[in-house]
Amino acid sequence: MIREPQPGTPIEELDTPALLVDLEALEYNLESMARFFADKHARLRPHAKTHKCPQIALRQLAAGAVGITCAKLGEAEVLAEAGVRDILIANQIVGAPKLERLTALARTCDVMVAVDDEANVTDLGRVCRERGVSIRVLVEVDIGMHRCGVEPGEATLALARRVAREPGLEFAGLQAYEGHLVMLPDAQERAARLREALATLGETCALLARAGLPAAIVSGGGTGTYDVSATTPPITEVQAGSYVFMDAWYLTVRPEFRPALTLLATVISRPTPDRVVTDSGMKSLTHEFGPPQPLGVVGLGLPRLSEEHATLEVTDPAAVRLHPGDRLRFLPSHCCTTVNLHDRYYVVRNGTLVDIWPIAARGRAQ
Ligand SMILES: Cc1ncc(COP(=O)(O)O)c(C=O)c1O
Repeated sequence: MIREPQPGTPIEELDTPALLVDLEALEYNLESMARFFADKHARLRPHAKTHKCPQIALRQLAAGAVGITCAKLGEAEVLAEAGVRDILIANQIVGAPKLERLTALARTCDVMVAVDDEANVTDLGRVCRERGVSIRVLVEVDIGMHRCGVEPGEATLALARRVAREPGLEFAGLQAYEGHLVMLPDAQERAARLREALATLGETCALLARAGLPAAIVSGGGTGTYDVSATTPPITEVQAGSYVFMDAWYLTVRPEFRPALTLLATVISRPTPDRVVTDSGMKSLTHEFGPPQPLGVVGLGLPRLSEEHATLEVTDPAAVRLHPGDRLRFLPSHCCTTVNLHDRYYVVRNGTLVDIWPIAARGRAQ
């Protein structure tokens, strides 16, 4: 049994690996984003796949978010249970077991889903009618990411008509996520390419409006593009997620937010002067966006991760005085997937534990 540390515990006394949330930085990010959206026509519907945590979702809503976005039905169930009332599952819900759960969820909260397939619309409508619920549906449009989504133009109109004809479903608008653009390092190119993609989406919205099917909601955007998305028609809702925590990757693109998520590790070995090993491998830190960054120590290279070890080359042995038992903090290279490896956040302020928040939707991939 892990005995949870009490509020007031200094960071240095926490057991590791421990995923830390710096409350001051988190609050700064929440407030900055809320301030940005305060005078915009578009609303923020933050993506909870980043934090998977009801405590943070409720803070986002309190800061003015119109609702919450999820990637998975399992995440939506956890957030609904915690009191979130307006949820977009920005994904296709396919297959009988999930459709059944979706209709159960629709009895407890207002839920929207994305569709890009006629047969899925038929199945969704049938299960909704059988269970006596109505669900709002966004048609997903591919604006260049080439993941899910129908083509803009006539294909989108045809599917929107199909949704509108299906009793049990309500056509609520479109979803179009520009995942291929959010990390483009050149801000001008990022903005220009997004505006181009949104111009095409705008034409599709006009086509729908002429056909008597106006898209009340047009949802898209991420942390890399939130400002352009929020100020460019036809977007009405922005799904940014990573801004709450940030990570080594996103900080290069969006320096206006602060890093709020770090991993506290312990040095478990200094087998040679030029090598330091910590207890934080790829089961504590993900590395699909590159290695995590060690913080606050000069003279250390980037870590090589094995399952439960991070091995760091010491480039300046005279400067690096780390020994077994010493602590080292890492900035994750990708916050969203790192979070999914942990059960709880150790919430800290000024070097002291103030709370522990369960990552309640962690692992809810179904
Ligand atoms: C559908 C969808 N919307 C929005 C986002 C934006 O998230 P972030 O702010 O982390 O870039 C993502 C990221 O994966 C996504 O898949």
